[in-house]
Amino acid sequence: MGSLKDSINDLLGQVQQMQANSAEELEALRIKYLSKKGEITSLFNEFRSVPNEQKRELGQLLNQLRQETETRINEMRERINDQMANDQMVNDLTRTPDPIQLGTRHPLSLVREEIEDIFSRIGFTIAQGPEVEDDKHVYGMLNFAPEHPARDMQDTFFVEKEMGVQKPTDILLRSHTSSVQTRVMTSQKPPIRVLCPGRVYRNEAISARAHCFFHQVEGLYIDKNVSFADLREALLYFSKEMFGPETKIRLRPSYFPFTEPSAEMDISCNICGGKGCSFCKGTGWVEILGCGMVDPNVLESCGIDSKEYSGYAFGMGVERITNLKYRVKDLRLFSENDVRFLRQFESC
Ligand code: DAH
Repeated sequence: MGSLKDSINDLLGQVQQMQANSAEELEALRIKYLSKKGEITSLFNEFRSVPNEQKRELGQLLNQLRQETETRINEMRERINDQMANDQMVNDLTRTPDPIQLGTRHPLSLVREEIEDIFSRIGFTIAQGPEVEDDKHVYGMLNFAPEHPARDMQDTFFVEKEMGVQKPTDILLRSHTSSVQTRVMTSQKPPIRVLCPGRVYRNEAISARAHCFFHQVEGLYIDKNVSFADLREALLYFSKEMFGPETKIRLRPSYFPFTEPSAEMDISCNICGGKGCSFCKGTGWVEILGCGMVDPNVLESCGIDSKEYSGYAFGMGVERITNLKYRVKDLRLFSENDVRFLRQFESC
């Protein structure tokens, strides 16, 4: 008994160490251990003459040895086959190249470009301004009086360091793209017809419905005799182009310091067609932007004669429009960059 058990353990040790680097080496190992004349097979032959009371223990050990050997050989065979397939592929210069994963456009870029495209067809050009701005361009020149509560409408991030020293400054992250209006009006002469897309920042807790940064598109048109009717026509045209020819708009009186009169614009709910659904809270209307006639104070503060010129302005959130177009309800998805979300816009 001692000698058979020793032989089994000895072979088990060998089997655990065995290595093969080619199909031939592997076959040699299989023959050495498992073939009819193999070492394990001959141990099974020896086993026949083992006294009955030892059969149970030795039989188990032998089966274990055979199983272990087969498993090791199969594993090595798989590895060698993979290696061979890989070598063949690497050496095959006619093989088709690995597919390249193409990126997709971000839904906010798609929607921003669509807005730009619609307004460019009625003569608007693009204007840009800085995201790190000063109080003057974001509030002062837009008719926000100092300490006026309207400043609290937008929770602003102020930059509180200058040359490494902690102190309050009038430098801030712009909270709306209306700041680009003041930059354009001070640097260009009317007629002005610009669209100002860009990122804005507000000190808001991040949730599904609010984020500390988002995107707006601002529109500004200044010329002689620009009227509220012109504003309404431009916005109706935009709404139909963006949401379909059936779309209706309505303007509700509102307040912004930089426009007078001011309004908020709703479109007929593009989900229920205006009948009322959970999206429009049963009203049939959804708000999409703020607008109004540029306040004469704003024109004057930018050096434009308010007796000669008038103008309209509007501002909308790109996330809001995207939500309406593609039903993206959680704002956080736009900045998390989960490719499973982003790839859904591949064919848009
Ligand atoms: N700046 C406003 C905001 O961020 C949006 C806005 C409203 C822009 C009315 C305008 C406007 O140009 O006329 O809430």
